[in-house]
Amino acid sequence: MPTALAGLPQSVTIYEVGPRDGLQNERVTVPVEVKAEFIERLVACGLRTIETTSFVHPKWVPQLADADVLISGLRRTDGVRYPVLVPNERGLDRALELGVTDIAIFASATETFAQKNLNRTLDGQIAMFEPVLRRARAAGLTVRGYVSMCFGDPWEGDVPVGQVNRVGRQLLDLGCTELSLGDTIGVGTPGQVRELLRSFVAAGTPIGALAVHFHDTYGQALANTLAALQEGVTTVDSSAGGLGGCPYAESATGNLATEDLVWQLEGLGIDTGVDLTALVRTSVWMAQELGRSSPSKVVQALSE
Ligand code: HMG
Ligand code: MG
Repeated sequence: MPTALAGLPQSVTIYEVGPRDGLQNERVTVPVEVKAEFIERLVACGLRTIETTSFVHPKWVPQLADADVLISGLRRTDGVRYPVLVPNERGLDRALELGVTDIAIFASATETFAQKNLNRTLDGQIAMFEPVLRRARAAGLTVRGYVSMCFGDPWEGDVPVGQVNRVGRQLLDLGCTELSLGDTIGVGTPGQVRELLRSFVAAGTPIGALAVHFHDTYGQALANTLAALQEGVTTVDSSAGGLGGCPYAESATGNLATEDLVWQLEGLGIDTGVDLTALVRTSVWMAQELGRSSPSKVVQALSE
């Protein structure tokens, strides 16, 4: 029986990243028709925000080199948002050409990862994003900003909260309406989550503008999510079946599984609008397409 905990939000927006974060790191290249079916099935499961792909350099992320084909052929459902990642003006041009209305830029909190993931310095990434934001906002697009390596970096180790704040503030100042704080390599723990969220709020960022993006490498994603909900966060990123990772951070594994998130939220009496049975079926199907089983505990439990 659902049992509430005091102090949690009444509703939570699930920001599904499976088709993008999930598939960007798979060894097998998933055919574009399978990606389209994946997205349509996620919509049928009740998900209302689905990050579909990335308009990045196709050589940098070959798994998503079919982004233009996928987006131009996508059957859209009213009331569903289909954001895409865009790193630079070239990516924005591609997105605008195809009528995309929601984009996300992605910054690094650390110098090393900015270099490895974007081929830019910390300052250089902001210079690259500035015209993207200016033009995207003028065209009426919504722009989310990611900050990666918020809780630790494989090359630099611990990442000071002030450093994450600085990059996050820069993205908000450029005009991002939402900031997603990424634990790219899944090393964070709940006390750190609380500390980071409170530091943003103390600096004047409304909690409603903050989302969390946990990878589950060390099994902390659900605990970290609960800590974030207790701070008032109402947007949580997750990936169906726990797919995910980052090709430029080898130690990154799958995202928090959407099924695990839905199980927790429904158990807390927070309605998600997601049909869990249908979602598990979708993830089992996707896992078969990928030739490996889902790491999600809930998928495993409900599909046995
Ligand atoms: P670069 O090599 O510095 O690019 O890469 P450039 O600006 O020097 O341009 C070089 C050539 O690439 C040019 O072509 C451009 O037109 C072309 P040429 O004139 O030589 O023929 N080009 C492009 N072509 C297509 N689409 C584009 C594009 N941009 C340039 N958008 C770049 C810089 C940013 C492009 C590259 O580093 C890149 O694509 N990086 C993407 C890496 C990536 O996607 N990583 C995974 C996503 S981030 C993540 O997963 C973390 C997250 O989940 C949160 C978390 O977990 O923390 C979001
Ligand atoms: Mg990620």
